[in-house]
Amino acid sequence: MVLSRRSFSALATAGALGLSLGSGSAAAAGTAPTGPAPVPPEADGERHTIGFDRYSMLIDGRRVVLWSGEVHPFRLPSPSLWRDVLQKLRAHGYNAVSIYVSWNYHSPAPGRYDFTGVRDLDLFLRTAAETGLYVILRPGPYINAEVDAGGFPGWLTVTEGTARTSDPAYLRHVDEWLTVVDRIVARHLHTDGGGTVVLYQLENEYADHVTGPLGRDYMAHLYAKVRADGIDVPLFHNDKGRNGHWTPGTFDTGGESGRYLYGFDGYPSPVKPPPDWGYFGVGGTKGGSTASPSTPGFMPEFGGGWFDPWGGAEFGGKGYAESARTRDAAYERRFYLTNLANGIKIHNVYMTFGGTSWGWLPAPVVYTSYDYGAALDEARRPTPKLVPMHQIGQLLRSVPDLAKLDRAGPVTGTDPRLTVYPLVNPDTGARFHVVRNDGTAEVTTPVPFARLPLTVPALDARLLAAGILVGRRKLAYSTAQPMLWLTAGRQDIAVFTGRSGEHTETALECASEPTVTVLAGDAAHEYESGVLRVSARLGGLTRVLVEGGGSSAPLLLLLADDETSGRLWRYDTPSGPVLVRGPALLRTAALRGSVVELTGDTVEAAELEVWGPRGVSEVHWNQGVLRTRATASGSLRAERLLPGVPDVRLPALTGWRRCEENPESAAGFDDSGWRVADRTSSHSTTPVPAGQPVLFADDYGFHYGDVWYRGHFEGAADSVSLSCVTGTQGLLMAWLDGRPLGTHRMPVPDRKTVRQGTWDATVTFPLPPAERSEGPRVLSVLVRRMQHDQDGKADDTHKAARGLTAVTFNGASPEVTWRIQGETAADPVRGPLNHGGLHGEREGWHLPGFADGGWKAAGFPRAERRQGVVWYRTEFRLSVDSAVDASVGLTLTDDPDRAYRVQIFLNGWNMGQYINDVGPQHTFVLPNGLLRTRGSNTLALAVLSDGTTPSGPGEVELTLMGSAAGGVPVSVVDSPGRAAG
Ligand code: GAL
Repeated sequence: MVLSRRSFSALATAGALGLSLGSGSAAAAGTAPTGPAPVPPEADGERHTIGFDRYSMLIDGRRVVLWSGEVHPFRLPSPSLWRDVLQKLRAHGYNAVSIYVSWNYHSPAPGRYDFTGVRDLDLFLRTAAETGLYVILRPGPYINAEVDAGGFPGWLTVTEGTARTSDPAYLRHVDEWLTVVDRIVARHLHTDGGGTVVLYQLENEYADHVTGPLGRDYMAHLYAKVRADGIDVPLFHNDKGRNGHWTPGTFDTGGESGRYLYGFDGYPSPVKPPPDWGYFGVGGTKGGSTASPSTPGFMPEFGGGWFDPWGGAEFGGKGYAESARTRDAAYERRFYLTNLANGIKIHNVYMTFGGTSWGWLPAPVVYTSYDYGAALDEARRPTPKLVPMHQIGQLLRSVPDLAKLDRAGPVTGTDPRLTVYPLVNPDTGARFHVVRNDGTAEVTTPVPFARLPLTVPALDARLLAAGILVGRRKLAYSTAQPMLWLTAGRQDIAVFTGRSGEHTETALECASEPTVTVLAGDAAHEYESGVLRVSARLGGLTRVLVEGGGSSAPLLLLLADDETSGRLWRYDTPSGPVLVRGPALLRTAALRGSVVELTGDTVEAAELEVWGPRGVSEVHWNQGVLRTRATASGSLRAERLLPGVPDVRLPALTGWRRCEENPESAAGFDDSGWRVADRTSSHSTTPVPAGQPVLFADDYGFHYGDVWYRGHFEGAADSVSLSCVTGTQGLLMAWLDGRPLGTHRMPVPDRKTVRQGTWDATVTFPLPPAERSEGPRVLSVLVRRMQHDQDGKADDTHKAARGLTAVTFNGASPEVTWRIQGETAADPVRGPLNHGGLHGEREGWHLPGFADGGWKAAGFPRAERRQGVVWYRTEFRLSVDSAVDASVGLTLTDDPDRAYRVQIFLNGWNMGQYINDVGPQHTFVLPNGLLRTRGSNTLALAVLSDGTTPSGPGEVELTLMGSAAGGVPVSVVDSPGRAAG
């Protein structure tokens, strides 16, 4: 026995018991309207009210469950592709996108803010509105997010004041940042129809121990500032866990109440049963959403994957395939349905598209790729994980009853291997059960209300519904999960879904016996006592047409297995909804008279079938007219398959030219233009060693990438000890008068040490006997800084120094004059995080158009031993069909024992760092737009090797990470060459 007979017989007879169902009766109940799903939001210039009660958000008084995905515009540096990702979200049932805005990405210096080009926040917000998505905006000031300094600009690491507190020195900078962000956001608020921003986050997982007065004043300041800037949507904070921190009333909101929400983040272990955060949780404030009884259950971040550290499995890095495997489609069903059962009505999946932390964006804990194992991979390809999101998202759009749920009476007699969450909508009487199997064996069990048993696969879950409307009929129950319903032409269509091969039973209330026609698939039916039962084995698409039986409109029942459900696309147009079956993606649908114009993608050749409003007789796909015929299902079906994507051929990379650099290591190098490192104090958290100048790179305005030091001294010494702080994977190389002294690398961290922070080391190099005589000497040191630490605990860890911290000569105490050189002025287009201070970067060797004619031709693979930096450049042309969306990556492979690393520049854009003997990343995505898919491109590789092993590059090739016929139009991203750079 599973679900109690009582609860389901109540369901099946809900109508007979007079429980109200549907929109009309809900309105009569005097509560928020639950009627048809809201049309996708747009920037319509109309005023909208945005509120909430304890169940859900209320937009124009209508309940909305926000089903959101996290996407970071800064991790997709090609504005045209924002539309691609957003359209994929919308197509798969998401109605919202949540974004961080990263302060460091927009601010090269105090008072300087850039929101143009790849940084165009206004364009992103416009695109989201045009796509029909609500926006949750998260501009920090601190964001964490595995980015350098948690999003704080490099220049902020050397300012006075304690960050993330109410310290006025810090708040001055914060206010400047929020002013510029809010000026843009204020144009896109949904309240006045300028856009679709409906929620705004203050700070990020603000550390538990700062909930004292400094923290409270800080939060109050942020609240007041954001309101003063004209942001009038509800504000919220994301508590790091369900701690009950920063619930309404815990800090001063200037007398305003009811405009602030409590949210908490969750990244539960995928190998343990999902936690009960809300309705079914226990224990005071630990009860999750009940920590804030008057606001809806809200998870601003729920793990949809996980980030991956440097190194292979032995160091905790497992590669993103593993993140996707441990948090797979069944994980999503189990965990996200449990969240819904627990009353979570604002649900954001972090990440839904992870993208790439290009340039010097990644925090030390991660490598370049931020794929995250997310539902959309780094190549923007939909993964199988999108299927459950799609099913649940469509369901939430079609069944408004889910926006207001109470815990229903306990279910008795449940199969102990299943966890069952009974829920009821108090207004409509609609009932839901989330049924979850945390075991490793499939459970098949009889259910009292159905003739067929219910099967829940191992580590999986499903949602069962009863008493909901499906078109103009009422569902008595189904052992399949409802996915959507809509009205197309004269008929209603209802879709149910489940795993392929499952036997399901779906029962509809019918006042009299209907006429039932099985149009396709394996289904049987019977009518008894006012209920039509359709049993079907899921496989492809089973179609059952139900006519009569007390309803004027026919109902087409579609029973789809998972794969088929992922090819069913609903699109709401002003003339009514459209349902499309077949292609890999439906991007848009528009009705012009009798024509339905569709755009979308195919990968394999695909069928196309369309259900649309009455009068539609012609179908266009990506601007082409299709020959169609009408089907017994009431659809139009293309007579021929839509073609799949043609082959994409990528050229081999040849014609490399090579140039050695690091003239800075030579004794005679002219460093007279470099900054003298003579400061004596710093705002860094790293102590300045007694009697030594400050050598920390940030104090001299160098915040990203490599930094050079040259120490001039007179005299002889036995050895020199160099101390540095770099962040994980950093390294230091030294030369005396041009002769290599050696390299020190920070060890690859393991899972425990990766979080420990500073990554400092002291290394002693003996000076060669020949160099121990008196005389002027130059010690040249190159430090590859990795990025600044994040400041997750609000204790200024982003202010730990980077670069050299102390230098001691042994056997002598010479006076040393230090000069320092890091990155030149920020690239005006590519931004402050694009380049560091290598000689080649300072001279523009990474930029297109750089005159490398004098460089020597070179072929790969290479095996040379050298301490220092060598550059390689080449050009290649692509001619990808403009109707094809090809995701191209650059893949480097070599003998993993070779100690070298490569910075990859595409058309001057820093696509990330490859560390050959650390990994695990080998393929670096080259986003279209930066990559000219129809034209010529410049690649530059800066290879840093320590001379202890031969170094590559080995093989360097373009790889196709994915392709689809369709895509969005892509504009070339401005990539100025040397003159403009
Ligand atoms: C959260 C944080 C995010 C991100 C995430 C892990 O705690 O708010 O910014 O760091 O963890 O990917």
